[in-house]
Amino acid sequence: MSALSELYKQALAVRDRAYVPYSKFAVGAAIMSTSQKIYTGCNVENVSYPCGTCAEAGAIAAMIAAGERLIQDIVVVADSSNLISPCGACLQRIFEFSDKNTKVHLADLEGIKKTYAIAQLLPAAFDEEELRR
Ligand code: THU
Repeated sequence: MSALSELYKQALAVRDRAYVPYSKFAVGAAIMSTSQKIYTGCNVENVSYPCGTCAEAGAIAAMIAAGERLIQDIVVVADSSNLISPCGACLQRIFEFSDKNTKVHLADLEGIKKTYAIAQLLPAAFDEEELRR
């Protein structure tokens, strides 16, 4: 199995553990770091709706907690006829730990359907250059 199929498989598996009693919309995310380790996350909702967290945020937190800093690939999977893209806040979260080689793979229950560079999804990201101006 290729590294990308394994990443998709893990995103799909963690999606099954999403806590989504309110939206019923389960999302899974799996990151392959540049050291070829996999970190996963699912969405975790809360009765106080804004306290809920996205799948991507969970996967990024796991990667950072393990001491890593750079995403090579991230797969985001949901069951939707329109392929979902990470929300705006998650694009910014992914951007923080990306470089020009980072790939964002959008998937449904059949597999990965589209692949983008983060700059294609968030072309005008707020980056650290802006802080220095
Ligand atoms: N959600 C994610 O986990 N990732 C996304 O990129 C989009 C949305 C979650 C948040 C909420 O739990 C549910 O999907 C419906 O918005």
